[in-house]
Amino acid sequence: MVCYEELKIKGKGGLNLLRWPGILAYFAEYLPLTGKTPLITLHEGNTPLIASSSLARKAGVGSLFFKFEGMNPTGSFKDRGMVVAIAKAREEGKEVVMCASTGNTSASAAAYAKKAGLSCVVLIPQGKIALGKLSQALMHGARVLAVRGNFDQALAVVRSITSSYPVALVNSINPYRIEGQKTASFEVVEWLSGVPDFLALPVGNAGNITAYWKGFKELWERGKISVLPKMLGFQAAGACPLVLGRPVENPHTVATAIRIGNPASWKGAMAAKEESGGLIDTVTDEEILAAQRMLAEEEGIFVEPASAASVAGVLKKAREGLFQGRETVVCVLTGHGLKDPDIAIKQCEGRVEEVGASQEEVIQILGLSV
Ligand code: F0G
Repeated sequence: MVCYEELKIKGKGGLNLLRWPGILAYFAEYLPLTGKTPLITLHEGNTPLIASSSLARKAGVGSLFFKFEGMNPTGSFKDRGMVVAIAKAREEGKEVVMCASTGNTSASAAAYAKKAGLSCVVLIPQGKIALGKLSQALMHGARVLAVRGNFDQALAVVRSITSSYPVALVNSINPYRIEGQKTASFEVVEWLSGVPDFLALPVGNAGNITAYWKGFKELWERGKISVLPKMLGFQAAGACPLVLGRPVENPHTVATAIRIGNPASWKGAMAAKEESGGLIDTVTDEEILAAQRMLAEEEGIFVEPASAASVAGVLKKAREGLFQGRETVVCVLTGHGLKDPDIAIKQCEGRVEEVGASQEEVIQILGLSV
C-alpha cells in the first residue's frame, strides 16, 4: 500500500495532484464570458486521449486515439457546453432552463442547473432513453416530461416555449453550448501537440461536429495550428438525414442518443464536412454494437452505443480503403457505457455463471490446477 507519507516525499510537499479548474476558468480567453459570469464547475473537460492498443492495427492507420468524453462529470461530452449555457443563463437572470433530449443533454442540464441553483425541465422521447440517463435527470431533481413523440418533435415544442416564455433553452442551438463544446478540439491539439489527420465522431443533432470544427478553425485563425483535420461524421443507418439529404420522419437505431431525424445544426455539420474535405456516412446497428464490444474487450473502454459509431465508421472507412497507413486518427467517444446498461447486458446474455459459495466449486468451474 502506498501511504500518504511516501507520496508526500515523492511529490516534494504533498500529493502533487493536478488541479483542473474546469472549462470556464481554463478556457476563459476562448469563451464569451464577462465579469458577471458565475464560474460554476463540476470540473468538466480535460478528458483523456487514450492511445489505441488493438484497433489501430485493425483500422490500418499510423495511430488511433480515443477522446473519452465519458470521463466528464455526468458521463458525456455535453458537460462542456452545458456549463457555459447554464452559467450564461444564471448571468442573464433566468431561473428555469429547458431542453429536449435523447438523454445525455437532460442529465447534464439537470446536474448543472442544480449546481447553479436553477430549475430544470427536460422533454424526452417516451420509452426511448437509456436508463442511466433517466436516472441522472431524476436524481438531480429535474422535471422530466416524457413526450409521446420523438426527439425532433420534443425539440420543436421546447423551441416554441422558450421563444415566448422566460425559460432558457439549453439545447445545442443555444450558441453557448457550441462555445463550450469546441474546447474538446483544443484538448485534442494540446494532447497530441499537433493536429490529427482525421477526427471521427457520431452525429445526431449535429451540435458536436459543428463545435469541434469551430474549435479547430479558431485555433487556425489564431495561428496556433497551420493545418486542419478532416472531419468524419457517422450517423446510424436508420437515422441518417444528413446522408440522405432530407429529414427522416421515423428515425430508428439501437443508439438512442443519435435517434434524430432532423438535426438542428444541419448547416454546421455540412460546413464541417465540406470545408474540411471530410465526409458524413452511415453505420449499421450491427456495426455500432460490434464496435462497442471491441472497444470494451480489446481496449478496456466502455462506451454507450452512439459513441461506438465513430469507431464503427473508421473501421468501415478502413475497409473501403480511405487510409494509407500513416495517418493519425482521433475517434471521439461521446458517452460512458454505464449510461445504457440494458443494451450492454443484452449483448452478454448467458455470460454470468452461477456457482456455490465454496472454494471447491469455484476451482472446479474455472478448471484451475496447481
Ligand atoms: N453521442 C452521444 C452519446 C450523444 O448523447 C449525442 C447527442 C451524440 C453523440 C450526438 O451529438 O447531437 O451533437 O450530433 N445527444 C443529444 C442529447 C441529442 O439529447 O443528449 P450531436
